Amino acid sequence: MFNKIFLVGFMGCGKTTLGRKIADKIGWDFVDLDNYIEQKEGSSISSIFKEKGEHYFRKVESSYLKNLVKYESHVISCGGGTPCFDENMEIITSQGASLYIKLSPTDLFERLKLEKNKRPLIADMSDLEMITFIKEKLIERKIFYERAKFTFNSNLESEEKLIKRLNDFLV
Ligand code: S3P
Repeated sequence: MFNKIFLVGFMGCGKTTLGRKIADKIGWDFVDLDNYIEQKEGSSISSIFKEKGEHYFRKVESSYLKNLVKYESHVISCGGGTPCFDENMEIITSQGASLYIKLSPTDLFERLKLEKNKRPLIADMSDLEMITFIKEKLIERKIFYERAKFTFNSNLESEEKLIKRLNDFLV
């Protein structure tokens, strides 16, 4: 039985939106790891990447994830890269119900095209560079995402069914 849910998946897959909905439905609090980092660091994710570099970002991302693990009855939306660095995925799978939101590269591209500016890894890419990046990174990262206990594909399952499935494992 779990007292936390961690949402993982590629940038733009909808972790925050779905995370909020799940939290509302089950009456838990919601926290977005990127927002938490921005609040704690007093800086946007883009500025942290620009001013301190990705290495620094990954270091603080891991350490703030460890803070959130202490929370109870929370739905936590992780960054797209969170599960793929340090021992973050071990923490996520051992401390909560982990949920991978699975989308195809084409769907991710369509969604990311509309909101790439706040994402430093893709902000300066052309459409072609972006689709190549998504395909390559997804191959690299899905090994981590697929370690999640639950997978959600909105083409195959409704959100209501997913929440029912999760509910059996929550305290
Ligand atoms: C990143 C994803 C972002 C954010 C940062 C790096 C990644 O989170 O943590 O820009 O490495 O995929 P979202 O998945 O919420 O966009």
